[in-house]
Amino acid sequence: MKKLEEYVVSIPDFPEEGIIFRDVTSVLQDAEGLQLAVNTMQELVKDLDYDVVAGPESRGFIFGTPIAYNNKKPFVLIRKAGKLPRETVSVSYDLEYGSAVIEMHKDSIQPGQKVLIVDDLIATGGTTEAMVKLVESLGGEVVGIVVLMELAGLKGREKLAGYRLDSAICYQGK
Ligand code: PRP
Ligand code: MG
Repeated sequence: MKKLEEYVVSIPDFPEEGIIFRDVTSVLQDAEGLQLAVNTMQELVKDLDYDVVAGPESRGFIFGTPIAYNNKKPFVLIRKAGKLPRETVSVSYDLEYGSAVIEMHKDSIQPGQKVLIVDDLIATGGTTEAMVKLVESLGGEVVGIVVLMELAGLKGREKLAGYRLDSAICYQGK
């Protein structure tokens, strides 16, 4: 049986020279790769007690929803600005060039609820840090963060000191 990391195709010098792009689509387009990815991620957090799964647009939806479904939990969407129709809370965060805003519906998490954050990737950690702020602004407690891939060389984990962060695959470089 193929290992999870063998489903990830790495593309050198994309989107720019010196960067190795770790492509999630090669995992998803293989039935066994998809099963293995979701199963591995939920196995990593099976000891956690949580009420809600939250994941960000767009690649976080791919993994967050099946983990919530399999564990009979609700899934709440963290979206890029301007997409959610009801009352929202928002947080802005820095990107390499400029900044971005993500939002959640105000009623998507109740104060005191335990939240598991799911995404495909942690790179600089900026997205995850912003998601933690959003959840906490609604009174939620982030009990864990699980990602398929971690680019350890970008030190995203350092932004999340004090939070539990599990990654299915950890790459040492950027
Ligand atoms: C990518 C990836 C993570 C985030 C990680 O999302 O899916 O969510 O970047 O980067 P960071 O740790 O440096 O913040 P992106 O914003 O590119 O959007 P997408 O999921 O819609 O493709
Ligand atoms: Mg993303």
